[in-house]
Parts: sequence; structure tokens; C-alpha cells
Amino acid sequence: MANDTSESAKAAKLAALRVALPATSETVYLNSGTNGPHSRALLDATVAKLTSDFELGRIGSDFYPSVMQEAAEIRTMLASIMGCDADEVALTRNAIEGMNIGVMGINWRPGDELVTTQLEHVCLFNLIGLAAHRHGITVRTVDIGNGDGDVTARLMAACTSRTRAVVTSHVQWSTGAVLDMTDLAGACRERGILTIIDGAQSGGHVPMDMHAFGVDIYAIPGQKWLCGPVGTGAVYVRRESMGDVLPTYLRGGSFDVNGFVVPSPGASRYETAEVNPLTGAGFRAGLQWIVDEVGLDWAYDRIRQLGERCYDGLATIPGIHLVTPRGQKAGLICFQIDGMTPQELTATLAERGYTIRYVEQKPSPLVARISCGWWLTEDEVDGVVDEIALIVAANAA
Ligand SMILES: Cc1ncc(COP(=O)(O)O)c(C=O)c1O
Repeated sequence: MANDTSESAKAAKLAALRVALPATSETVYLNSGTNGPHSRALLDATVAKLTSDFELGRIGSDFYPSVMQEAAEIRTMLASIMGCDADEVALTRNAIEGMNIGVMGINWRPGDELVTTQLEHVCLFNLIGLAAHRHGITVRTVDIGNGDGDVTARLMAACTSRTRAVVTSHVQWSTGAVLDMTDLAGACRERGILTIIDGAQSGGHVPMDMHAFGVDIYAIPGQKWLCGPVGTGAVYVRRESMGDVLPTYLRGGSFDVNGFVVPSPGASRYETAEVNPLTGAGFRAGLQWIVDEVGLDWAYDRIRQLGERCYDGLATIPGIHLVTPRGQKAGLICFQIDGMTPQELTATLAERGYTIRYVEQKPSPLVARISCGWWLTEDEVDGVVDEIALIVAANAA
């Protein structure tokens, strides 16, 4: 009975939360790895801000102080979500901007080495390539398979005395593998190597604790698992590592006209623009709603359970090959299908009301990818698994 009550309380909580996320009724929302659904709190705050800017103008003496206050509140909120201090957080426009702040901020010398994996996102490979061209650094790309097993050992085996940074993702976008951040950062620190982590698929998806991880730089987007607007994100820079990460562009600081400059204190030195007042208002209100109404621990637990359910369901379907490592998964489940491309499966599922995506960027494997956001019901997860079973069986017949 007690169990019934807690089950029904859980269902009632979920139903109420889903009302505040109308996009989750429009489709079975299985693609937060691209963009999460917006909450009504985000919508209301954005509209209110646009309305007040429209009606009152943007030149009152309180306009800029209020923009700065908004930014401070977002940094504080993200710091509590990321497990760090607010002055270690810089606001960005996406994940890759934060990765640029890290990778381009190092005072590279020709012949220095950067170690990464073959699974990284295309945008990150572009950035690494640019850094290699610009600074004459050597890139060592380690094949870590699907990200299973002791990834730290494989990365460390590629490091030499010239290695300055290991650059990889916390959650791999094309396999869903969750890497052990504490282990990786510890091994790197022992060797004096910086860790620069792409958190594009981890922010809002798995628990983050920068101080416990011990990483140096960690970039997240707002628009994916945190359900924020496009054009939002943040980068954590460990306080003790700020001396190793020079601002590539500079806006805030103090100077003398002969060319001496002291950048702004803390990670805000890496910010080159004010927060956009509209996206900022929406982002903050949306985050507040997730923290207060959803609860991050509840969300992380639910994502993990739904990921498990999805994985176990797919594992029973003949002709499905799971790419996600069983022992290192969370809510991002990647797989391949005998006799059918992930593109075909994605298109057929879309016709039936399920929105997933495929990843087709080499050197990542070609996969179909399901993002198990906390807003999904168990029936929806079972539904997509059943639908995939029907599609695969019909294709094989
Ligand atoms: C692992 C990874 N890195 C980077 C990106 C790019 O994200 P953003 O647009 O936030 O820079 C993505 C987007 O899907 C991603 O999955």
C-alpha cells in the first residue's frame, strides 16, 4: 500500500511536471541530446522580460545592473548544479565556446601534445584541429572503442612528457559511455596534465561535482539536458588552473594606457559579452524550476532508471546491437540495427510519433540514439522499444 502511494505520488508529480513541458505531449520526446523541452517557467520569464524591455526601454539606470544581477544569479545557480564556486563559472553561448576557452587559453608551444579520443564531437575535432594548425601542437587521438572499460589507462598510455592537456567528453555523444571523471582527472594531475572536458551531453543528465572530479575545465550547454534556450551555456575553470588558461579575448579588467592589463577576477574574465537579457531570464527561470520543482537528484535517478529500462528492452530485440556500454551508461542509449540504417529507423519512428535521432559523423560509429529524459513515462520508453521491435521485425520479414 505504501508502495502504491509512493508510486501514485511519483506519477502525479510527473504528470504535473509534464503539463509544464507542453512539447512532451507533442511527440514522445526522446532527443534531449539535441535540445531539451522548454518549461512554462522559461516561457513566462522570457515573455515578461521582452515585454518590459519593449514597454519601458532599455536605458533606465537600473537596466545594466539588472542584467549583471541576472548573470550573477545564473552563475550561482550553475555553480550549485556543477559543484563548484560561482566565481569559477563563466557564462557562454554553448558548450563548444567553453571548450574554445579551455583549449585556446593554453599557452601552447610547438611540439606540445594534446590527447583526445576518436569519439569526440565534430565541433570539438574542428577546434582541436585549429589549435594544432595555429600552435604546431601534436594531437594524439586514442581509439577507446565504445568507451567501455579503463579509458583512463588507455589515455594515459598515449601521454608523454610533452602532453599538456587531455581533452574528452564526460558522456560520449555517439555511444552514451559515461567516463570516470575523478579517475581521469586524478591521473592527469599526477602527470601535470590539464583536463578539458566536454560536458555537452552530461550537463543536466548525470550528477556533476567539479571539486570532487578535480577536472580543470568543464564546459556545458544550456539547451540540451538542462532545457534552456539556444545560446546559453557555461564553463567551469578550476580556481587553481586559471593561471594556465589565458583569456583568448578580453572584455572586463583594468588597464593602463601603456598596455598593462589585469583581467576581471575569477572566471568572469573569460566572458566576452553580457548575458542576453531574454535568454538569460528564460535560462534562469527554467533552471530555478528544475531545481525547485523537479529536483536534480530526482531527475538524475529517473534518467538512469529510464536509460536502464530502454537498454534492457532493446537488448531483447533480435537484430539490435547496443553500442552503449552496459556498465557505463546513463540516459543516452545508442544502437545499430541489422539491415536498416539509423536514418531509416529515425524517420519511421518520427512517422509514429517518436522523436529520436541518429549520429552519422565519422569517426564516431553510425548509430540511432535515444535520450531518456526524466520527463518520459515508463510507458513511453516501453512504447519506443515495442515500436522498434515491430519495425525491425517487419524489415526482416
Ligand atoms: C559531445 C558534444 N560536444 C559538443 C556539442 C556541441 O554543442 P554546443 O552546440 O552546445 O556547442 C555537442 C552537440 O550535440 C555534443 O554532443
